[in-house]
Amino acid sequence: MKRHVFALTGASLLLGVSVIAAQAQTISPGELPDPPKFDAQGTPNFVGMADIFEYKALPAYSEPDFVKAFVDAGKLPPVAERLPKEPMVFKASNMPDGIGVYGDVMRHVIGGRPEGWNYTAGQSQGWGGIDIGMSECLTRTGPLFTVKAEELAPMPNLAKSWEWSEDGHKLTMHLIEGAKWSDGVPFTTKDAMFYWEKNVLDPNVSPLNGATPETFGEGTTLEATDDYTLVWTFKDAFPAQYIYQMAYGTFCPGPAHILAPEHPDNKAGQTYDQYKNAFPPEYMNIPVMGAWVPVEYRADDIVVLRRNPYYWKVDDQGNQLPYLNEMHYRLSTWADRDVQAVAGTGDFSNLEQAESYVEALKRSADAAAPARLAFGARTIGYTLYPNLSGNGWGEPDARAQAVRELNRNADFRVAVTSAIDRQALGESLVKGPFTAIYPGGLYAGTTYYDKGSTVYYPYNLDGAKALLAKIGLTDTDGNGIVNFPAETPGVGGKDVEITVLANADYQTDKSLAEGVVAQMEKLGIRVIPNILTGTQRDATEQSGKFDWTVRRNGSELISVVQGTVALAPTGPRISAHHRAGANDQLDLLPWEQAMVDVVNKFIATNDAAERVELMKQYQKLYTENVNGIGLTQYPGALIINKRFANIPAGAPIFMFNWAEDNIIRERVFVPADKQQNYELHPNTLPGAPGSAGPVAL
Ligand code: GLA
Repeated sequence: MKRHVFALTGASLLLGVSVIAAQAQTISPGELPDPPKFDAQGTPNFVGMADIFEYKALPAYSEPDFVKAFVDAGKLPPVAERLPKEPMVFKASNMPDGIGVYGDVMRHVIGGRPEGWNYTAGQSQGWGGIDIGMSECLTRTGPLFTVKAEELAPMPNLAKSWEWSEDGHKLTMHLIEGAKWSDGVPFTTKDAMFYWEKNVLDPNVSPLNGATPETFGEGTTLEATDDYTLVWTFKDAFPAQYIYQMAYGTFCPGPAHILAPEHPDNKAGQTYDQYKNAFPPEYMNIPVMGAWVPVEYRADDIVVLRRNPYYWKVDDQGNQLPYLNEMHYRLSTWADRDVQAVAGTGDFSNLEQAESYVEALKRSADAAAPARLAFGARTIGYTLYPNLSGNGWGEPDARAQAVRELNRNADFRVAVTSAIDRQALGESLVKGPFTAIYPGGLYAGTTYYDKGSTVYYPYNLDGAKALLAKIGLTDTDGNGIVNFPAETPGVGGKDVEITVLANADYQTDKSLAEGVVAQMEKLGIRVIPNILTGTQRDATEQSGKFDWTVRRNGSELISVVQGTVALAPTGPRISAHHRAGANDQLDLLPWEQAMVDVVNKFIATNDAAERVELMKQYQKLYTENVNGIGLTQYPGALIINKRFANIPAGAPIFMFNWAEDNIIRERVFVPADKQQNYELHPNTLPGAPGSAGPVAL
């Protein structure tokens, strides 16, 4: 089969004819090698949703003794009054090790740094599970890896139930009633509406993890009809898919009573920057709906969180969760997270940087090793994304605009992908059966992947060079780098120089960017790395100031159902590599529009067979047109200290969400005989919002 760029775009077919003819001599797709055999260790115990939890009032509740002491001293209302009318009840029968005991700490190590606590306005808390542990969202998806395929749907969470109107355009959601923020203030639809109206809908605010109005469908509206009822109105009928978007990280409301007074609409003279930065890392005890509240922060050292006395989940014997009293996040490096988890000085790691696999495996093989390490499926993958906005997004100068035009040229993208030696790239990270050749798009081995719909352009440097020549990129000055054609505005005759954005916090991201630089040099393109720390990198990417970017992919390419809207530029600010320019318009190429249409059809249908078919079309459009240049795909391993109980079997480090959500940390515990004295603030609870730290009796 010869490549034909516009094959699936209908009306554009005629346009494509000359393109097909012209390049037939240069590049043809080839046979995609199957990934080396690599079995996941541990299979999930598949259950129905109702096996895991329910919402109901129990006859009595209990709490840790030290918390009860606060109650007895009149410093805290009784536990029954702190819980909602019907708490979320986790069933012991679904807990791998049963009902837990209170105490101990999970010592995380992370490579990010908290910018502050305003998740709602886009601040990162440093990743590695801090924000996941602090936030609760309308629905939840991390634990779905353990739910039977036929019952796959988002889990209720802050929204305990929902129903569709007869015509399918309205979705009524019922929030848990009587739940409270960690400072005791009621949680109501006011919080959800503040998140929606003053953050998602406000074009000056970008919540962390990128919620925009289109994240929930173009034209979708939300209203509250009382304190506990939300009503969504959708353009399509029954777009159940959007309920996944209400899970982490796009519908996790912040505390309106704390955040709203700082929003520019409510404070004279307040700028959006001041709003975003109103809660710096030093601000302690920010109210959360999650299980743990930040009570201590030492720059470049540690963030400590203590149990939330108002947490709204219990086990079926009435014990208020979480079982763990404290969470630590050592502010170090991601590589150190692996080292410490393996050594037992840290408790948890998502082993995801392939460079450390051999060492981590060697050390964990010993029966006396403090941590267990279990590999899952190949759900870590990296792609090189060309910036496809030709519309001024990120205010490109003449050179950058010329690169955008190249990026938008299918021959150029095919040349680049054909010049990547993926075998060598994978082996430069780690030798052995880990890495697989990844052409881009949906990952091999996942539910919606179809090899037959995957177009792969094998390594073919000569063909790639010929394709560049065909589009007028030749080395006119003999320095080994191709030059822009003379007529290119602003940069005619100059060397083709392209920047590649990558994340300095991860060795893998840096290695892959360097690999791209080296491989492109052979093609005659000078690639200049722009390696920035995580938060700077994210901000640079989100403002469109990049030519190319190396990115670890999100869950949409694994699960398809989580983050579906991000599979294509379905809104002006949704895709990470193609957004609207100043006039708020996207300038989609025909095949991108076709991808958007396919994704929207997928969202609009609940027919399983049709969905499978649509994802085949998606994969073909993506890979044939090289929406992104796949680099590598490999498995990750979960490393957890052996003293922890209730870690579900077969928990992937990344699927619908990261392992920090998947393992249901609020149910994890340490058996009494294995507990250690790691608590830094024993017998304390979070203090008042903004006060210095935790409080003791
Ligand atoms: C970072 C880490 C991941 C995971 C997530 C959680 O991205 O690299 O392994 O811990 O944070 O948000």
